[in-house]
Amino acid sequence: MTEVRIGLLGLGVVGSQVAERLESRRDHIAERTGVSVELARVLVRDPAKPRAHRPAPGVLTTDPEAVLGDPGIAVVVELMGGMEPARTYIERAIEAGKAVVTANKEVMAHHGPELLELAKRRGVDVYFEAAVGGGIPLISTFKIDLLANEISRIEAVINGTTNFIIGRMADGASFEEALAEAQRLGYAEADPTYDVEGYDAAFSTRVDPTRVHREGIRGLDPVDFAYAAELGYAIKLVGFARADGDEIEVRVHPACIPRRHLLASVDGAFNAVVIEGDLVGSVLLYGQGAGGRPTASAVVGDIIDLVFSMRKGVDNRIAVDFSRRRRLRDIDEVVTAAYLRLHVADRAGVLAEVTRVLGELDISISSIVQKALIVEHAAAELVILTHPARESDLRLARERLAELDTVYALAAFLRVMGSEP
Ligand SMILES: NC(=O)c1ccc[n+]([C@@H]2O[C@H](COP(=O)([O-])OP(=O)(O)OC[C@H]3O[C@@H](n4cnc5c(N)ncnc54)[C@H](OP(=O)(O)O)[C@@H]3O)[C@@H](O)[C@H]2O)c1
Repeated sequence: MTEVRIGLLGLGVVGSQVAERLESRRDHIAERTGVSVELARVLVRDPAKPRAHRPAPGVLTTDPEAVLGDPGIAVVVELMGGMEPARTYIERAIEAGKAVVTANKEVMAHHGPELLELAKRRGVDVYFEAAVGGGIPLISTFKIDLLANEISRIEAVINGTTNFIIGRMADGASFEEALAEAQRLGYAEADPTYDVEGYDAAFSTRVDPTRVHREGIRGLDPVDFAYAAELGYAIKLVGFARADGDEIEVRVHPACIPRRHLLASVDGAFNAVVIEGDLVGSVLLYGQGAGGRPTASAVVGDIIDLVFSMRKGVDNRIAVDFSRRRRLRDIDEVVTAAYLRLHVADRAGVLAEVTRVLGELDISISSIVQKALIVEHAAAELVILTHPARESDLRLARERLAELDTVYALAAFLRVMGSEP
């Protein structure tokens, strides 16, 4: 039996579950892999803090050297979170010839390619399944199961917090009420854009997360959920990526999703990803993208896979490929249908003015509905669905509509998913 000593950086929400599972499943892991996994050291800030799982006496440390400087530790599992010092510790572990498993979205989204490159030069592995979509097996899906495919499109509802807030807003709560409730229930804020590392892996292309167009859900109004529902749509925060020749389109924003779409019914803490491959067609992955136990599922799975290949002395997995050079399409060049809600003067000729502005930009209307009258302002509410149009034209249309005397407010603008070419 080979023994592999593991150093854990962090024993919080995810780390505690990882430590617990490694210890409770130790015999099972040994049977399956021929490796006895020993949790040798665990780095924390405050050793006195109460924890969901307490390792054996003498294992906790506050000294990073006890993990990074110990030549007997072959695998470093980074579950501290944040950019620094996590990034530096990962780099140091790799440089010391240790394999790394991490759940760190932020580090992998910004520095994944460099760290993977460094690991390749040092002949060690970096596994990061948990950094993309928590418990949903995305990286292994791209790296193993869908290797035969050219991936053309990924559509995802990935962020637990926003998905929860959106669910509450669809039930009529305001953004502020829903956010306060999410915070009360302890949902952590996380930036879903960081899950773009998954897009890199899928499209063999490096995607700079700082250049990805993203919009949050602040500014959405409960009436939009009601109107969208009447028109046959659900509103979700979606991550969208599409390969188109030498270009790649990546964006994160709220969108109207047709009710029949696989992602329209993804609610609460559940996340889902639809992947489109040229050989396999559509694949749907659905599960919990956050939380201690689901995330630990991905981390411990990586550890088991990793120690098995270490014992075999093989590189079990094909490296992530960043060799394709593709241009990140500018948001202005994106083509999408849109949902617009306007407050307009309640008088004759207004509709003609609005349709003229859209017509001048070649934006054709698929439906236009006059909603409630706001009596005190003598205003009417117009909800317009357009056919697919260029983003730059949709932006110009919003600017020109806002300049009309008869348009009091541009209350909402949402893209409609599934309308892309
Ligand atoms: N939670 C989720 O649902 C989830 C889902 C997917 C991915 N992730 C990722 O998993 C990672 C861990 O998340 P988490 O929710 O488990 O975080 P957490 O509960 O805040 O735990 C962080 C742990 O790291 C330790 N730590 C932080 N900074 C440290 C430092 N400078 N020196 C020593 N120890 C330090 C903390 O020590 P103390 O306990 O002493 O404070 C704590 O044990 C993050 O990268 C996160 O993005 C989390």
